[in-house]
Amino acid sequence: MTHHPAPRDSALRTARTVTGRVSLFDLVGGLSAALDLISPQVVDHHLRVGFLAGRLAGHMGLPGADTARVVFAGLLHDVGAFSLQTRLDTLAFETDSVEHAAIGWTLLRRFAPLAGVADVVRWHHQRFDQADAADADPQTLRLAGLVHVADRLDILLRGAGPACVPPGVLRQRLEHGAGGMFDPLAVEAAGELLCASALAEEAARPGPALREAMRALAAPRDAMLDAPALVDFSGLVAQIIDFRSRFTATHSRGVAATASALGALAGMAPAEAELLYVAGNLHDLGKLAVPRRLLEKKEPLTDAEFETIKLHAAHSDAILTRIPGLEPAGVWAARHHERLDGGGYPHRLDAGTLDTGARVLAVADVFTALTEDRPYRAGMTRPQAAGVLGALAGRRALDPALVALLLDNYDEADGLRAQAQERARQDFLAFSGARP
Ligand SMILES: [Fe+2]
Ligand SMILES: [Fe+2]
Ligand SMILES: [Fe+2]
Repeated sequence: MTHHPAPRDSALRTARTVTGRVSLFDLVGGLSAALDLISPQVVDHHLRVGFLAGRLAGHMGLPGADTARVVFAGLLHDVGAFSLQTRLDTLAFETDSVEHAAIGWTLLRRFAPLAGVADVVRWHHQRFDQADAADADPQTLRLAGLVHVADRLDILLRGAGPACVPPGVLRQRLEHGAGGMFDPLAVEAAGELLCASALAEEAARPGPALREAMRALAAPRDAMLDAPALVDFSGLVAQIIDFRSRFTATHSRGVAATASALGALAGMAPAEAELLYVAGNLHDLGKLAVPRRLLEKKEPLTDAEFETIKLHAAHSDAILTRIPGLEPAGVWAARHHERLDGGGYPHRLDAGTLDTGARVLAVADVFTALTEDRPYRAGMTRPQAAGVLGALAGRRALDPALVALLLDNYDEADGLRAQAQERARQDFLAFSGARP
């Protein structure tokens, strides 16, 4: 029985030999794109709010670092709404606004490079006329107020009617008659930009063009993440994906732990095993587009529902394979539902294309899915899981050698998975308890 030391969280942080560095802006842009998948009726909402907030800040003459801070905050502002059922309401109204803003802050502040952004997200629904009551420094509140205006402005610009209107009319339209909601200076800046420049047209550009336009605004707070920071960021993303439902609350981190352990057992170098950990955390990113109702459904899924769920792999693929420097982790993540016999999705790739990393991640995903509790059944016992994995290896859907390696080291792999998922469960409990 081959045995290499399996990477754990502490060991992961010491491995330095990683292939490339990844831009924080590109990673946040990818996460933001995933957030924007859930509501097709408000296409590119987070992207446009990031852009509009950045343009407002620039127009108001704020320092570059603050402009960048509102761009990042705009890109992520409603991230906390994904663990609430009221997601769509938050786009149209101010319901649950305090709660989703606080949840977003709770999630984002754990990742140090986004701590200042998290503070802005926390207050992005704070009323201007009650800002004294907020426990925040004036500049954070000011930036949060810009995101607040940008958020409403995006919704407004989607409606009919001319974008350039007298200041009083703009204010009324933004506030729905509720006076005192917004910073007058921010509303004034929005009015000027709408009348004196082509802000409405600029914001209506397709996603990629908008993202490139935003890159310069975000540059003062962009950073090239090294391996430990990438691991940390992927852990944040795993929580955002998984915490939507108690049934998925620990899945990604279970896959990450299993994949990196199995990769090491298979002889992959520590830096590669580390990238498998990242890939495990990111693989289900596209699940942010899957309605929570389907994630939690106890009855068998209809064909149409199953097709909807399967789309998550295509979304992960579309987003993760376009982030420069994230390969191979992004590619492995994108391929987690591909099968060696060509029976997988989204691209029906086969053994000729699927490298070891992709094969390891696929085995780790199935193994974790079988052994963890699901809405419709408890986690499988060892003989049950071994039976299913053996059958998949038998028809060469999963790599037979990797399945054999996993079954040979079952106790160790399962122990690592259970440990990682227990830690994730504790995080989830603390997170749910942390809600206001
Ligand atoms: Fe919001
Ligand atoms: Fe998946
Ligand atoms: Fe998965």
